[in-house]
Amino acid sequence: MAIQSIGVIGAGQMGNGIAHVFAQSGFNVLMQDISADFAAKGLATIGKNLQRGVDKGKMTAEEKAAALGRIRTTTDLEDFKDADFVVEAATEKWEIKQQLFATLDRVCKPGVILASNTSSISITKLAAITQRPEAFIGMHFMNPVPVMQLIEVIRGLATSDKTFTTVMDLSVQLGKTPLACNDSPGFISNRVLLPMINEAIFALHEGVAGVESIDGIMKLGMNHPMGPLTLADFIGLDTCLFILNVLHEGLGDPKYRPCPLLKKLVDAGWHGKKNGRGFYDYRGEKPVPSI
Ligand code: CAA
Repeated sequence: MAIQSIGVIGAGQMGNGIAHVFAQSGFNVLMQDISADFAAKGLATIGKNLQRGVDKGKMTAEEKAAALGRIRTTTDLEDFKDADFVVEAATEKWEIKQQLFATLDRVCKPGVILASNTSSISITKLAAITQRPEAFIGMHFMNPVPVMQLIEVIRGLATSDKTFTTVMDLSVQLGKTPLACNDSPGFISNRVLLPMINEAIFALHEGVAGVESIDGIMKLGMNHPMGPLTLADFIGLDTCLFILNVLHEGLGDPKYRPCPLLKKLVDAGWHGKKNGRGFYDYRGEKPVPSI
C-alpha cells in the first residue's frame, strides 16, 4: 500500500512539527487535537515556521501555500479511517495514549502502521494495547522537528521487519536520517541526554555554579548548540522529569533519580520556555536566569 495520507495525533510542539515535515515532503496530512483551538494554533505555528524558509529563500511562497494546503485539521479520531499511516504525538501520559491507541486500532484500516513519537514510554507496552503489535513502532522526532536531522526508530518486541523497513524508508523520504534502536527505557537519545541535563541541575542545586555559567561552560566547552539548562527549558521541565522517572523506575538504578530542584520547579508550574518560566524567565525581552 502506497503511503499518501498521514494522520498526526497532537498539534502541539512535536505534532505540528511532524505535520509540517510530512506536508513539506508532499504528503497529505490530517492533524488531530482535542480542541479546534489547539489544532488551529498548531496550524498557525506551521505557517510561521514555513515562513522562515520563505524569508531565507529556501522555499517559495507558492511552496509554502501548497504545503499548508495539504494539511487538514480535526478533533475526531474517527476521521483517521482513511489514513495510510498514523504517528501519535499526544501528551506523554500513559492513560491518554492507552485510550488513543485503542481507538486508532479500531478505526484505522488493517495493516496501517501506528507509530508513536513518545520520548520514553515502552513501545512494546503501547503496541500491546492494539491488535496489530507487528505494525506498531516508535518514530521519535527531535525538537524542533523541521530542523533536526534525526529520527530515532524504535522496534518493539513484536515490530515486524516490514514495518521497520517502511518507517526507515518513510523517514528518508522526509529528508531525515533514521537510526534504529531496540525498545528500552529512554531508548538511546534520552537515556544519554537526560542524565547530562539532570547532572547540570544537581550542579546548580549544590551551588557549584550559576545557571549562565553551567550553560556557558557546556555550550562553549563542548560545542553544544544550547547549554543543558536552556535545553531542559526548551524540552519542557515536566517532560524532563517524566523521562527521568521512566529511566529511574525502568532501569532501577539510583543514578537516574531526578534532582529535587527539577521536581520543585515542576511543582511550581515552571515548565520551561513553553509557559514562560523555567531555569530562565522568558517573559521579558530576552531570557534571564530565574533562580
Ligand atoms: N521550525 C523551522 N525552522 C526553525 C525552527 C522551527 N521551529 N527553529 C529554528 N529554525 C531554523 C531557523 O530558521 C534557522 O534556519 P537557517 O539555518 O536556515 O538560518 C535554524 O533553524 C537555526 O535557528 P536560529 O538561527 O533561530 O537559532 P539557533 O542557531 O540558535 O538554532 C536550534 C536553534 C536549532 C534550536 C539550536 O539551538 C539547536 O540545535 N538546539 C538543540 C536542539 C536539541 O538538542 N534538540 C533535541 C531536544 S531533545 C528531543 O527533542 C527529544 C526528546 O525526547 C526530549
